Amino acid sequence: MELTKRNTGDKFYGRRKGKSLSPAMQERFDSILPKISIAKGDSQLNKDVLFKDKSELWLEIGFGGGEHLSQTAQNNPEVGLIGCEPYINGMAKLLRDISELELENILLYNDDARHIMDRLEDDSISRAFALFGDPWRKYRHRYRRFISPNNLDRLSRILKSGAILRIATDHPIYLQWIMKWATIHPDFDWIDNNPDDWSVRKPDWYETRYEQKAIREGRKPYYFTFKRK
Ligand SMILES: C[S@@+](CC[C@H](N)C(=O)[O-])C[C@H]1O[C@@H](n2cnc3c(N)ncnc32)[C@H](O)[C@@H]1O
Repeated sequence: MELTKRNTGDKFYGRRKGKSLSPAMQERFDSILPKISIAKGDSQLNKDVLFKDKSELWLEIGFGGGEHLSQTAQNNPEVGLIGCEPYINGMAKLLRDISELELENILLYNDDARHIMDRLEDDSISRAFALFGDPWRKYRHRYRRFISPNNLDRLSRILKSGAILRIATDHPIYLQWIMKWATIHPDFDWIDNNPDDWSVRKPDWYETRYEQKAIREGRKPYYFTFKRK
């Protein structure tokens, strides 16, 4: 499919703000976020710049309320995690978990993940998560979907050889779209072998709020694993 400047999907179309933050959330936003934010800038980011004492660098794109990110951080203290989420209310919710669980291996970016992806060095990420991205149901909005040829190229550049990319969706059209682009991308292998691999969430793949809502409303989540060649 032909990509044009207009439909490459490099603009952020999502929501940045919901209802006003409670005073406690605002306080955490003002006091904690600046200490663990990746500042805007053009330096080349890698594990040693961001987390000198950690063994690997992982990336979560669009973490929503951060349920998966905080559990992953808690269960993998040897790993440094970058979480990107433009939605302020989701960020504020994660900050509560970071504070209560005293997590010290998360750095955050309160904006479009692509800004950070474009500043990361080649081969710098060992694992990436793009869970339940907005499906952008209308055909004319299809290139707003995060999994797209452009963003798969971005992921391909920053993921190390052998790195894992986990993608989830509950939306049938986005599912087809993901499979179409990710399976034809020359740098990724789809490594799920049987229906249980993509229909059952693995024990170290933590549930998100969006996923819970999808299940409550009768939709089926799918969990795909790709490997960077
Ligand atoms: C449907 S929500 C799912 C949130 C979370 N992953 C979950 O499963 O609960 C999709 C999220 O992706 C975020 N998002 C969309 N485009 C993004 C981008 N370019 N960079 C970072 N986050 C993005 C949205 O702000 C939104 O919070």
